[in-house]
Amino acid sequence: MTDAHAPYLTEVDGHLCLERVDLHGLADAVGTPAYVYSKAHITDAIEALNEAFAGVDFNLHYAVKANSNLAILKLCSDLGTGFDIVSGGELSRVIAAGGDPGTVIFSGVGKTVEEIDFALKVGIECFNVESEAELHRIAERAEVSGQVAPISIRVNPNVDAQTHPYISTGLKQNKFGVQPDQALAMYQAAAENPQLNIVGIDCHIGSQITEIEPLLDAFTNMLSLVDELASMGIELKHIDLGGGMGIVYQDETPLDLQTYGASVRQILGGRGQTIILEPGRSIVANAGVLLTRIEYLKQAAEPDAPNFAVVDAAMNDLIRPALYQAWHDVRVVNPDRTLPPDQWDIVGPVCESGDFIAKDRTLGLDASSVLAVLSAGAYGMVQASNYNSRGRACEIMVDGETFELIRRRETITDQLRLETGLDASRNAL
Ligand code: LLP
Repeated sequence: MTDAHAPYLTEVDGHLCLERVDLHGLADAVGTPAYVYSKAHITDAIEALNEAFAGVDFNLHYAVKANSNLAILKLCSDLGTGFDIVSGGELSRVIAAGGDPGTVIFSGVGKTVEEIDFALKVGIECFNVESEAELHRIAERAEVSGQVAPISIRVNPNVDAQTHPYISTGLKQNKFGVQPDQALAMYQAAAENPQLNIVGIDCHIGSQITEIEPLLDAFTNMLSLVDELASMGIELKHIDLGGGMGIVYQDETPLDLQTYGASVRQILGGRGQTIILEPGRSIVANAGVLLTRIEYLKQAAEPDAPNFAVVDAAMNDLIRPALYQAWHDVRVVNPDRTLPPDQWDIVGPVCESGDFIAKDRTLGLDASSVLAVLSAGAYGMVQASNYNSRGRACEIMVDGETFELIRRRETITDQLRLETGLDASRNAL
């Protein structure tokens, strides 16, 4: 059992349980594939972060992109977090979940006019501005609607987060944020523009970061800008350090949150700014598992070929292994686990050789095995697609010994609903 899921994923009389819900029984009750999340795990992850940053004026903004299910957003909101969003769709979700738009920070390099207008209308906390052109657009839209837009500039602190290149965001060659010099010029311009209200500065250097140094280097680089701005008469209310805190998938040593909090407190010194974090993965990843059932076992034809366990979950449900070579632990959840172990590649039914959930795992399987893919709570369901016209999985929230369906399984009717063209009239421009 990895510590990452303890004490929420436990074995009770041979039954693998999330909190006190038997996962094998749950798979029978709700079907597979199914994403299952532990409410207690999410709650404790939020509390642990709040505790680690006690002593600084601190504000947690959950990164909606990691898992945007309404029940999870409501839980975060009930626990007092704000939100980090990257689209109008995510803003709508926060509002639908009963979250306060006044606690929303809007990041992302491509905010459209419609998204900016929507955010201005509902009164978000702040736009994290990622380019000069975006700053102009926000000022223009604020003028049109007779409002003042709260802004922060996303600085690219140019530190290497030492993570997978696809989820590294704080280097010069990445599309995110602006260089420090450019940021200063943008702050100056914003300070002279009555449509803009400067509230903060932000950065986000990447995701699944397990070393503290890059995060602290980024913070230190930002502080020199904060001080330079103060000397120009521009006082910031908050410093947003982004998300990115790494978790344990396999044998990583995760960031020590207490050390991170204490170091930030010490480096911040007597400055009065509120510290904001935008974590996604570290709140939800290890709170979630993906349940899947064996469809077929395909024994190796030759000694050096793999054995395949074809399961009912696929890359359309969890694309992380295919996209980032991500490693997710896999457990058998059947109460009787006395089958002789063998080496298996766990693969889905999608017509791509890249469609695998896990490779080369030692597991005792038979045709009735149900598996739990661990650490699947973040960037799992949100990256799911309908590839191969597969309906997306259902989602379940576990709370003690009870569970609740928080998204029903997608049907083929759901998929076909948006498509026309069989008898619709044609248009010409
Ligand atoms: N803030 C901003 C501006 C971000 O771009 C991200 C993640 C976060 C916060 C949250 O980062 P976290 O705490 O979750 O690391 N799909 C990839 C991860 C992409 C992360 C993108 N940005 C994966 O499955 O690993």
